[in-house]
Amino acid sequence: MAALVAATLVLAGGCAQEPLGPEAERGRQVYQAQCIACHNPDPAQAGAVGPPVKGSSEDLLRAKIVNGSYPSGYTPKRPTALMQPMPQLASEISNFAAYLR
Ligand code: HEC
Repeated sequence: MAALVAATLVLAGGCAQEPLGPEAERGRQVYQAQCIACHNPDPAQAGAVGPPVKGSSEDLLRAKIVNGSYPSGYTPKRPTALMQPMPQLASEISNFAAYLR
């Protein structure tokens, strides 16, 4: 019985340290699944191919991910056009913005 209580406390403690809200947590999961082939798992760092994306605005994320473009007047971090648009992720834009904020 004591062992069961101890195990329960360890499990509960492991879950208690998540600081992200539900949108940002969803954004983190999709980012880790869809983006880190090119971008760094730490969005503040440059990745294997892609630049850092920490702080990207919702407008920038929507333009780049859905349309493969940039908001008017925005100066891209890279002059290349290697990233393919991923319009299937349109519903995740606000979650990415919450995670990358
Ligand atoms: C195939 C590799 C690849 C994947 C996958 C990828 N990116 Fe990119 N991304 C790039 C590259 C390379 C650039 C630099 C511009 C270019 O070449 O398209 C870029 C640029 C960006 C930019 C613009 C940065 C700036 O400020 O100029 C954002 C925002 C971005 N990516 C977000 C994402 C997100 C979010 C995902 C996941 C949904 C993702 N990318 C998936 C390669 C990728």
